[in-house]
Amino acid sequence: MKLPVSTIPEPDAARMQCIACGRVQVDPGGWYQCAACGDLLELIPPQPSSAAVVKSWPEIWRVRRDSRHAEDLSGVWRYRELLPQFPLAPRGIVTLREGNTPLYELPRLAQAAGAAAVWAKHQGMNPTGSFKDLGMTVAVTRAQALGAQWVACASTGNTSASMAAYAAQAGLRSLVLIPAGKIAWGKLAQSLDYGALTCQLDTDFDGCVRILRELVRRAPVYVVNSINPYRVEGQKTMAAEILEQMAWQSPDHILIPGGNLANSSALGKGWLELAALGLAAKIPRISIIQAEGASPLVDSWHNWQGEKLQPRPARTLATAIQIGNPAAWKKAVRVLRSTGGDCLAVNEMEIAQAKAEIGRQGIGCEPASAVTWAGAKKLIHSGWIQPGQSLMLILTGHTLKDAEYILGFHRGEIPGPDAGAPAGLAGLRHPPRQLPATVEAVAAVLETAGRP
Ligand code: F0G
Repeated sequence: MKLPVSTIPEPDAARMQCIACGRVQVDPGGWYQCAACGDLLELIPPQPSSAAVVKSWPEIWRVRRDSRHAEDLSGVWRYRELLPQFPLAPRGIVTLREGNTPLYELPRLAQAAGAAAVWAKHQGMNPTGSFKDLGMTVAVTRAQALGAQWVACASTGNTSASMAAYAAQAGLRSLVLIPAGKIAWGKLAQSLDYGALTCQLDTDFDGCVRILRELVRRAPVYVVNSINPYRVEGQKTMAAEILEQMAWQSPDHILIPGGNLANSSALGKGWLELAALGLAAKIPRISIIQAEGASPLVDSWHNWQGEKLQPRPARTLATAIQIGNPAAWKKAVRVLRSTGGDCLAVNEMEIAQAKAEIGRQGIGCEPASAVTWAGAKKLIHSGWIQPGQSLMLILTGHTLKDAEYILGFHRGEIPGPDAGAPAGLAGLRHPPRQLPATVEAVAAVLETAGRP
């Protein structure tokens, strides 16, 4: 689908800046490293010609919802004024109508925790069931525009599912590197279904990244891991969609899971850019929550004020965020600093309980997403989030991504023995009943089950 003529940019106007030394450069491709110092790059947003132009954008974005064109129906390309501009391939953008995800209000959780309001932005409602689709539509569009034949990623499962789907949609081949036995089956199944060349490697996620980094030097593959700045640009539009859904008001706090730390970086980048444009009156405190067994950013933030990061082996049942050497940690530190957010870890018991509580709202999410609610409760308890303040959870993955975790939880196997478990955990478990096929048997359990 072609973008309207008015938005077709000059030849490759997309320019990148190093986050460490500030050097501005053209798109280097490959592993997207600064030509001068080797650090991460980010795209410089297009500059609007005037404040009046910016003021017209919210109305333009609203009107596009009624359009029948794919680029208007995409919840990423609808905000294309915020995106880097580059010449498209003749086939145009690669989209599965990503974005457009629901924002739920959760009054029972708010009441239980003593918060003014709790919202959940459910990015698991994207086409492949995770927030990765927001970035993938831009990265694969870029890959197609560059004439790439192959796209590739290392993944804990969601990036690979998303990449495989967008590559298939574009008619490109895709190469997936995943740690053997360490990702949820639903995600592996997706990459097979979408036709990816799927390699299970006998290592962890960080090991897969190391191999991909070396492979890029030898083979003509276009990398769509989140070191690719186009991914981050797509993901940053989440800030615009949230603001639009909140009538351009900001919550006091946003909590987001941290794994490789690109999504938190993207959310912060988006919000800060919208604030600079005058479209966000307030910047929420963006706090990043990690699983205790995979929390190198928490260590960095609390032990070294975000000045250095010590990679470490990672271990958590929230396999999506089982990452010990996060690529985008410097970008994430910048978000914590510039929004006044906090960074903390939650343990497996807290994740399991939070996930079950979100499930009980009829929403559900994958374990990695549930760290946000577990973290919110801790931040309310510590007084960091004050009574009367509002908070928003970024739920990153669909509950069906990791059905095994849910079954394990209700059978009492996950996260492990309940000894020392928070009160209420046992009450959240409700395994299926094995009954004789009689009305009497069902009526009897109904009678004993009582009220929900
Ligand atoms: N939540 C889910 C469901 C994820 O899949 C991921 C990352 C995150 C949170 C963390 O986001 O890495 O940007 O900090 N999944 C990646 C993957 C690493 O390969 O699917 P992040």
